[in-house]
Amino acid sequence: MTGRDGRPGRGSDHPVDHSTVILGIETSCDETAAAVVVGGTEVRSNVVSSQVDLHARFGGVVPEIAGRAHEQVITSIVAEAMVEAGTKPGEIDAVAATVGPGLVGSLLVGVSAAKALALVWDVPFVGVNHLEAHLYAGLLDEPEIELPIVTLLVSGGHTMLVAFEDHGRYRMLGSTLDDAAGEAFDKVARFLGLGYPGGPAIDAVAMAGDPEALHLTRPMIEGYDFSFSGIKTAVIQAVRAHPELSTPDVAASFQAAVTDTLVAKARRAARDLGASAICLGGGVAANSALREKLCDAATEDGIQALLPSRDMCTDNAAMVAATAWWRLRADGPTGLGAGVDPALSLVPTGPA
Ligand code: KG4
Ligand code: ZN
Repeated sequence: MTGRDGRPGRGSDHPVDHSTVILGIETSCDETAAAVVVGGTEVRSNVVSSQVDLHARFGGVVPEIAGRAHEQVITSIVAEAMVEAGTKPGEIDAVAATVGPGLVGSLLVGVSAAKALALVWDVPFVGVNHLEAHLYAGLLDEPEIELPIVTLLVSGGHTMLVAFEDHGRYRMLGSTLDDAAGEAFDKVARFLGLGYPGGPAIDAVAMAGDPEALHLTRPMIEGYDFSFSGIKTAVIQAVRAHPELSTPDVAASFQAAVTDTLVAKARRAARDLGASAICLGGGVAANSALREKLCDAATEDGIQALLPSRDMCTDNAAMVAATAWWRLRADGPTGLGAGVDPALSLVPTGPA
């Protein structure tokens, strides 16, 4: 473990244990977040500043705007997380930040801030994979869960079914062949005039709709992969052909088709692996229908459904600090010369 000038950092003097205090920073996309987590599970603070209003009129995240906005608020968000946690700089044992995947300009803001703090406080820096952090968000409430578990990570940029075999050992079971689940929600919401981000809007409108009003085929892709662009296109064609269809009915039918597909594959994966639980992660994990269906399926199959709180499903820094605890314990600190990687994958991909 090295700190300033290559000298051992303060973290190297102590084992990584249940009293280790980590400040986590997350700036990979459009949330500026900081959190203080003790021992990898005890969340002392979890502050998130969302840029969603800044990007709403563009219908998606604008990278240039995102980077500038992170830069403007990062210092105050970190300060707020420290104050809320009641933690003094001298009590921090390591500083972690998301190093990828994400928007390069956004990642650089969080990583630069984390490295600067690590240097000044003379503690280790830990670079965290954002996707791994989403996996750990589910374990914050259930750190003792028996592994393996299956994690369904569904966000605006990712749709992945992952076998969480052990800490640091993940196997990618399947991913989307086209749109990410959240992307499909956002596109259908835009088509229906429901605004951005579309997921929460569809979720809310669908409450008043009939999920069987529109019959949408559930795509039957081989294995554990997903495809959502067919459902999206079918919705658009149906609405054009039948303008009398009500928006709540269309939203509920679309949501039912997507969530049925997600739950069916996650359930099959859990059975095939003998997993003790299915865990949800990513922004779409906040979806009410998905949470309800997954809960029912898990109960039926006699396994556990790990449904992190909505705050933990969307981007946050508590999951970054929690992941950093495991990484620091297993691998030690990340060198201060390490950069960001906008295309970082969860599982290293070798040559084809
Ligand atoms: O994980 P996240 O906050 O950001 C990344 O993409 O990394 O996920 C955002 C996505 C958006 O596509 C948003 O529409 C979707 O999650 N989302 C939802 C819900 N809340 C957020 N999708 C369906 N139902 C929701 N309740
Ligand atoms: Zn995310």
